[in-house]
Amino acid sequence: MSATASNLAAQTPVKVVVVGAGGMGRAWIGTVLRSADAQLVGVVDVIDGAARSAVQEVVPADLRTGIATGTDTVTVAREAGAEAVIDVTIPAAHHAVTADALHAGFPVLGEKPCAATLAEAVSLAGHAEATGKLFMVSQSRRNNPHLHETRRLADELGGAGIVDTRFYKAPRFGGFRDEMDHPLIVDMAIHAFDAGRVLLDGNPVSVTASSYNPPWSWYAGDAAATVAITYDTGAVHTFSGSWAAPGGETSWNGDWLLSCANGSVSWDGETPPAANPEDGEEIAGRNPAADELWELDASLAGFCAALRGGDVPASEVHGNVWTQAIVEAAVRAADTGRRVDLAEILDEALESARVLDVADGRSQALTAWKTGTSGLTAA
Ligand SMILES: NC(=O)c1ccc[n+]([C@@H]2O[C@H](COP(=O)([O-])OP(=O)(O)OC[C@H]3O[C@@H](n4cnc5c(N)ncnc54)[C@H](O)[C@@H]3O)[C@@H](O)[C@H]2O)c1
Repeated sequence: MSATASNLAAQTPVKVVVVGAGGMGRAWIGTVLRSADAQLVGVVDVIDGAARSAVQEVVPADLRTGIATGTDTVTVAREAGAEAVIDVTIPAAHHAVTADALHAGFPVLGEKPCAATLAEAVSLAGHAEATGKLFMVSQSRRNNPHLHETRRLADELGGAGIVDTRFYKAPRFGGFRDEMDHPLIVDMAIHAFDAGRVLLDGNPVSVTASSYNPPWSWYAGDAAATVAITYDTGAVHTFSGSWAAPGGETSWNGDWLLSCANGSVSWDGETPPAANPEDGEEIAGRNPAADELWELDASLAGFCAALRGGDVPASEVHGNVWTQAIVEAAVRAADTGRRVDLAEILDEALESARVLDVADGRSQALTAWKTGTSGLTAA
């Protein structure tokens, strides 16, 4: 490609189809509409008419023509001349929707969690390898400029050895969260576990956890948990929280304290963090620049940049599976009362993923993985 053609390609918006026209799908349609990096060319939902309704509701009338709708991802993506798919379906549909899109030649940006189970997530890492297409998971809360400023301040104090998160909220959602066995760990703490990985180097190796349900809780499963994640550097991320905690609530990101060799960093999850050096005055963290991208906008920009020749995003599937592995390890640790090694659950997930892949017949990539952890690390 000539230099001019390559510059043009770099500026051409990525034509995307949003799949899953529920609450979060609507948020993604809005995100694509305000992005200069992407162009909405289609919306899909398995429920007949749902995609059309979402377009009517969210897309301004003058932009609606040229947006294809339908119930099947690959059909709509091909009809619409899409280059990529954004998978915002329910977790149970992530594996099928994402694998089909990858095998039809479309890179995928998928909502968290990567898949409904760790085995399905590992299988999708294999499908990405087999097709050579990018599969990035949007773990939106890691795209918070304050979080990255927290990391920068900690590095100035020698790097964090302990990261502590307190999360106390009292939302009354109704619906599926009220019925889950582990609503806090699976549906919410995944964000804190992932953000912890932004603050610490290395990979998580083991998890201890206990979970409980306060007597006044309105959840059927355990709305509260205490989790400790040990990294291969020796650093530890501790998380304690409850989703049935009326009164003095934390922010949705939680309250953070980082202990470093030469001081500490604190972040309330909403405003810039502050550092407290061992010798010296408190240092206020920087305010984000006005043009800094947050959450979904940042995920979309990173995905489009990667498709236009930029860096592989940190939450490319192989990187993101670690976060889902922490969740699955925390659930097992809470259920059994024992320390759970990530190597153990990733090896089990690899075995189950290979069974899924044999039944599916489209990917043999996982046959080359020696272990669950090495497959994630080597890629
Ligand atoms: N990042 C965040 O903070 C955040 C917040 C909320 C939800 N989410 C994630 O976003 C995803 C969607 O959540 P939601 O709240 O919008 O759910 P939702 O139930 O409101 O919407 C999901 C939609 O997907 C559709 N769907 C299901 N299977 C499909 C298939 N095979 N093909 C096409 N469409 C299909 C459903 O009909 C539904 O309209 C989930 O993975 C959820 O975990 C992330």
